[in-house]
Amino acid sequence: MNIDTRMDTTALVRYSSAAVLMHWLVALALVGTASAGLILGDLPEEAVGRQGWFDWHRWLGVSAFVLILVRLVVRALRRPPPALVSWPRTQRLLAHGTHAALYLLMVAAPISGYLLSNRMGEEVILFGALPLPSVVGADHAQMQLLERFHLWINYALMAVAGLHIVAALKHHLVDRDATLRRMWFG
Ligand code: HEM
Ligand code: HEM
Repeated sequence: MNIDTRMDTTALVRYSSAAVLMHWLVALALVGTASAGLILGDLPEEAVGRQGWFDWHRWLGVSAFVLILVRLVVRALRRPPPALVSWPRTQRLLAHGTHAALYLLMVAAPISGYLLSNRMGEEVILFGALPLPSVVGADHAQMQLLERFHLWINYALMAVAGLHIVAALKHHLVDRDATLRRMWFG
């Protein structure tokens, strides 16, 4: 392959540095928040340090939400590159659908968690320093509903993100195309 052609193609298809940075920051924040959530979900009511896991889960979740909002602004300002020409039509549609589902779920996860905490009647004090306003009041029945909603939203998020990761690895290791490289730093 002619070196100039390769450089042109690479420049054409890359995600912007801001999009790459926000993709990996948000991924990291979501993995941290979900891990803390799964750990606290397994702790018995009387476990020592349970409140700490709750607090950190909430703080990470709120921080993830802020990063997600920044990511959406970046996406509006710097449009993603077009699909690679090597992807078949069905794969393009699948990738589009997966990405749309991920955006929807990653916005719904922190919002449902925040409303859940409000319904529990527990104020969220970010990093123990910044009290955040309650959007809705305490309500036991609504709390139980939101608990289930938050749980299922997160199971769906983990399942779709798992599919997304497997697809990215397949492109990189089996198809050996530029899919993962164009979402990497450099
Ligand atoms: C950013 C995304 C978030 C993810 C991926 C996430 C994920 C999870 C997961 C996996 C659980 C465990 C459920 C279980 O196994 O029982 C959980 C529970 C919980 N989350 Fe989140 N969460 C997020 C954001 C938030 C936020 C922002 C808050 C509140 C400010 C929050 C509040 C809670 C609470 C109170 C529980 C405990 C529910 C219960 O079992 O009583 N979450 N979360
Ligand atoms: C090891 C973990 C991950 C890998 C290897 C990975 C890889 C990738 C790659 C290669 C792309 C670009 C696809 C393309 O060219 O169209 C991408 C895009 C995307 N990723 Fe990930 N990703 C990971 C984790 C996550 C997580 C945890 C989330 C959110 C839950 C996420 C959400 C997205 C979204 C929404 C896009 C679409 C970007 C756009 O075009 O607007 N990713 N990812």
